[in-house]
Amino acid sequence: MLKAFTLSALLALPCLALAQSPAPHFDQDKKVFRLDGGNVSYLFGVNSRGELQQLYWGARLGATDTMAAATPMPEWASFDSSVTTTPQEYSGWGAGLYVEPALKVTFADGTRDLVLHYQSHTLVENGFDVLLKDVGRPIFVTLHYSIDPTSGILARSATIANREAQPVMIEQAAAAAWALPAAHYTLNYLTGRWAGEWNLTQEPIHPGERVLESRRGSTGHQANPWFAIQAGDPSEDRGEVWFGALGWSGSWRMTIEQDQLDQVRVTGGFNPFDFGYLLHAGEKLETPIFYVGYSAQGLGGASRLLHRFELEHILPRTAATASQPLPKPRPVIYNSWEATEFKVDEAGQMALAEKAAALGIDRFVMDDGWFGQRKDDHAGLGDWYVNPQKFPHGLKPLIDKVHSLHMDFGLWVEPEMVNPDSDLYRKHPEWALNFPGRPRSEARNQLVLNLARPDVRAYVLGFLDKILKDNDISFLKWDYNRNWSEPGWDQVPPPEQKRVYVEYTRNLYAILTELRHRHPNVEIESCSGGGGRVDLGILRYTDEVWPSDNTDPFDRLTQQDGFTYAYPPQIMMAWVTDSPHWLNRRSTSLTYRMLSSMQGSLGIGANIALWTPEETELARRLIAAYHAVQPTIVQGDLYRLISPRDGSEFSATQSVKTDKSQAVVFAFIHSTQKGHTFPRLKLQALDPAAEYTLTPIEGQAREGTPKTASGAWWMNYGLDLDGGFRGDFQAAAFRLDRNQGQ
Ligand code: DGJ
Repeated sequence: MLKAFTLSALLALPCLALAQSPAPHFDQDKKVFRLDGGNVSYLFGVNSRGELQQLYWGARLGATDTMAAATPMPEWASFDSSVTTTPQEYSGWGAGLYVEPALKVTFADGTRDLVLHYQSHTLVENGFDVLLKDVGRPIFVTLHYSIDPTSGILARSATIANREAQPVMIEQAAAAAWALPAAHYTLNYLTGRWAGEWNLTQEPIHPGERVLESRRGSTGHQANPWFAIQAGDPSEDRGEVWFGALGWSGSWRMTIEQDQLDQVRVTGGFNPFDFGYLLHAGEKLETPIFYVGYSAQGLGGASRLLHRFELEHILPRTAATASQPLPKPRPVIYNSWEATEFKVDEAGQMALAEKAAALGIDRFVMDDGWFGQRKDDHAGLGDWYVNPQKFPHGLKPLIDKVHSLHMDFGLWVEPEMVNPDSDLYRKHPEWALNFPGRPRSEARNQLVLNLARPDVRAYVLGFLDKILKDNDISFLKWDYNRNWSEPGWDQVPPPEQKRVYVEYTRNLYAILTELRHRHPNVEIESCSGGGGRVDLGILRYTDEVWPSDNTDPFDRLTQQDGFTYAYPPQIMMAWVTDSPHWLNRRSTSLTYRMLSSMQGSLGIGANIALWTPEETELARRLIAAYHAVQPTIVQGDLYRLISPRDGSEFSATQSVKTDKSQAVVFAFIHSTQKGHTFPRLKLQALDPAAEYTLTPIEGQAREGTPKTASGAWWMNYGLDLDGGFRGDFQAAAFRLDRNQGQ
């Protein structure tokens, strides 16, 4: 049976390491709930009206500290009632609430008033389930709270149950609302577009509401469901930061709101735009999970906490790594897309595979073009048979060849799409999202299959399962190259049709769950024309993501910088492609391209058939050097020493293994101006008393730099780069290894 992922299933994961944190506590007298984990405390209580009121979210409080009972905020004249000014954990829209509600419903009799009060609670592992009920009608909401004892990252979601005799229309449903007291804050969020994802935007929080959202049916390139709020002005290494990310890959929304009393609230969950979930009598709706955390070490501290949590608790494991605390570092891949586009065939791919093997590549991935009548993007999607002209003997000869070269094999698929020019569409035009009798808007000559339909879900699971059964495939690149239009679902009655926003995404997760269950060693990449579907929902089922179709190594520096505020380098696939680059026509050296990609999970996507012996040898050497330090780069603690943002002349990162035994430093010059020398890099998080040996991977330290020095030296004096390190698009990389026995 297909199983959807739930918060309780997450809590049951064996990899949730339990560190020393007091158990969740409920103060019976004061009706105050307290959760502690890592360096974080979170408190909320039942106030005199019966609402669940947020009391504190921040640095860990003393074990014996107690909090007074929750007292509602006063009203502000007759215009802003106490209901509106009180920071509720989960508010219904009703009773004069003017701020963003968590839940808004219309009852069958037309009543649109929902007032949620505390009923009861139960203690669960690392948290509470708190039951709220409308003051008059049998609408129940269970709020699920769970805190990770190590990182203090809190997961919240809600289950809405209709025990009325009639259906209830849910018009807005958040996973959670979070509150911060009045102060001066900076909001950080990530915006973008196709080939231009992952721009960190920073702005002061002002009165009113900032809406971050996708109305597109999927996560989207344009905004990512992540936020960070910093007390005061932005800082990489100092100050309090409250951050969060939503685990949902369908249309989503987060509102960041400063209310009439200057208090700040963040509310996030399903996007209420065009939303309507008809909840029948006896049915339940589960919201996505909203994860949040707190750090006192600036944006850098926040992202390190989030990376660790994602690595340990979100990312899936294969059967081979099921008991490992961390997923394995990604294989270094070769991908055919930029070399051949749709012109894949047996001989061409075999030739590329031989070149790839000579470079030291671990995994060979054949991209788009291998199936149906796929000559370009006009035809073929939906027809998942091997193209007999391109591969007359099926995929087996190519896969065998790849295996004989000691690489594993990966394949591109785009399961949720159909070209009107396909056998599938000719047979099942009703399978595409559409409103009958209305035009169907194509994008890249394709339509979106309605995965909410049980027949479509069965078809997609069936063909993927067959491909994996028939072929020895280790990896699927799962692409998704457009957003929704005309999101109709005429298979179900009109009042239920908007459930498509929920059922589509649930079925996507269910297919991924079942596929991984049937093929437990297959790994999957989430790609959506680049970074259009990266979120903590899809990451429970996919091992890595394609951050952007933009592989220009200079653009990638800012994209990678932005990406790492929310997601770890482990999942950030980064290919080295050809120069001049197709997007910007920028020419860069192979060394620069390699080092830019080595900041994440390295891959090669160039036409390596055309590489000179010197280029092949350079790439082989750097891939070997990368393999030797990859766990530190992709799973260590990341310090963004100099940001490439805002037209910076330089940038640098440092990754430190969690046991402090190794660090890797990358330094980039974008364009030297007025003879500036590269700033001395003061390294971070080394053991001050241990000795570390510096080894260049590429480039040189300044003459006179000690080969071996203490962690204190590298952190306080720092690392000077060679005086000749200047020019345009220059790159250097170093490793520091703690001396044996220290
Ligand atoms: C979009 C992806 O992002 C590319 O890497 C490539 O797989 C193409 N689709 C293939 O159509």
